[in-house]
Parts: sequence; structure tokens; C-alpha cells
Amino acid sequence: MLKIIIMSDIHIMQPEEIKFGLDTAERFKKAIKDVNDFHSDADLCIYAGDIADAGQVSSYQLFDNIREENPIKSYVMMGNHDDRNVYIQYNKDAMVDNNGFVQGAIETKGYRVIMLDSSEPGHVEGILCEQRLAWLRDELALAAQANTPVILVLHHTANSLHMPVDTYKLSNADDLANTLKESDAQIAQIISGHCHISTAGSWHGFPVATLSGNQHRVGGFFKNTPGQQPCFEGPAQFLVLFANETGVTVHFHNYIDRNLKLPDAMFPRKKKQLFADE
Ligand SMILES: [Fe+2]
Ligand SMILES: [Fe+2]
Repeated sequence: MLKIIIMSDIHIMQPEEIKFGLDTAERFKKAIKDVNDFHSDADLCIYAGDIADAGQVSSYQLFDNIREENPIKSYVMMGNHDDRNVYIQYNKDAMVDNNGFVQGAIETKGYRVIMLDSSEPGHVEGILCEQRLAWLRDELALAAQANTPVILVLHHTANSLHMPVDTYKLSNADDLANTLKESDAQIAQIISGHCHISTAGSWHGFPVATLSGNQHRVGGFFKNTPGQQPCFEGPAQFLVLFANETGVTVHFHNYIDRNLKLPDAMFPRKKKQLFADE
């Protein structure tokens, strides 16, 4: 069984900086504590972009100080709030491909996990240039050759959420769809952050999910929703993804959750529960 923790939209600000009462560093510490308490058996952890709120070195330093406590092998990706050049300059061990993009792939437990860099300094929307699409083609070919299903992670949403975030999603999503369709690889799951909301569905037949991440959660905002799009201080969320030979399951795990817990006595059958493999 492959178990992956995917965190996104960490948005670390300057040390000591708190915006309207929201302390993203404090929240991120809680995420890392949650991993230590409940998920140290995960195989890897992916930080899926928007690591820093404003692409500053001091934010990346603070991020690294906090994630030092994460016991799991982890990979850092870039989002639109990051600055790829600043990050690469700062972190000499950054995951960087031959063309200088912060992306990479690993094969583990029967899956190929592809972490694709959709960020472009100075742009809020995602962009996949020809170099990145070519890199992705090669990765997909390797997966197809080995008959290994793919879990694809990129910061920007490729599918439409039918919300205003669509105006700054992956701008050339059609190119990504065509690249995936033209490959012989099996796409088991696509995961994105960026939109700060939990959604799941399919896109060109590929399963997609988005998570709300470490910073604020964006509320549903549809054409008839009045007023300004609401944003909430919680829950703060990361994904717990399980994958085995039968497929992929994605949990939206809230490590800060202010919902009222109902009394255990209300659910006597849950008092002793076994897992299916026990
Ligand atoms: Fe974000
Ligand atoms: Fe973003």
C-alpha cells in the first residue's frame, strides 16, 4: 500500500507576520504535528506549491525550520505565490529538472508519482511551456513502458471548478489534457491545490481532486451567490492518499477542524471497529 500526504497552499509569511489573525506558520506546525501523531507511516509527503505567501527567502527559511520535524521524505513544488528563481537560489537541494523547473518523478510501490511545475514567476495563472510538456511526455512514456499507473500532482487546477478561480487556473489545460490522452499511461489520479477548496470529479475521464490547504478555505461561490466570495479560517486540510493495485482513495484530512464533535455514546457500534485488513 502506498500512502502519500499532500499538503498545499502553506502560504508562509514573514517570521512573526500574522494577517487578520491568521498565522500560517502556526497552522503549518499543527500540520506537521498531525503527521507525527498519525501519519508517520506514510511513504512520502508532497508540498504542492504556494509554499511562501510572497516568494521571499525568509518565508522559505521559516518553512524549512518547521518542516524539519516532518519524519517523512518530502518534495517541494512551486505555486503562483512562490518565486522559482528565489527558491532555487535559496535551496541548493531543490527538486529541479534539467531545464531548471521545480519538478520530478518517483516510482514507488507500483505507482509513478509525477510532480509537475505549473508555476511561472509573475503569473497568477498556471502555464505549461513546451519544455515542461516534453518532460511530462517522457515521464508518461516511462510509466506506460513499466505499466505503472500515474499519480499526477500540479499546483494549478486543470479542470474547471465553475467558480471565479477558473480565470486563473492552468491557462493551457487543453495541452495537458492532450498530452495525457496521447500517452499510453494510465492516469490514476490528478491532484491540485491553488483554489483553497476541496473538490473531486473527473476531467477528460481522469479522476481529479483539489484540496483547501493550510491557509484560508474558500467557500463555494456560484453564479447566484450574493456578495463577496466568503473565505473561512478553517478547516486547515491536507490529503491522505492511499493507492494499491485496486486503485486510489483520497481523504480530505482536516488537521484544524472546529466542528462540534458528537458524543461517542451516540455511535455505540463504533466503539470497537476493525480495519478490513485486520
Ligand atoms: Fe494558494
Ligand atoms: Fe496558488
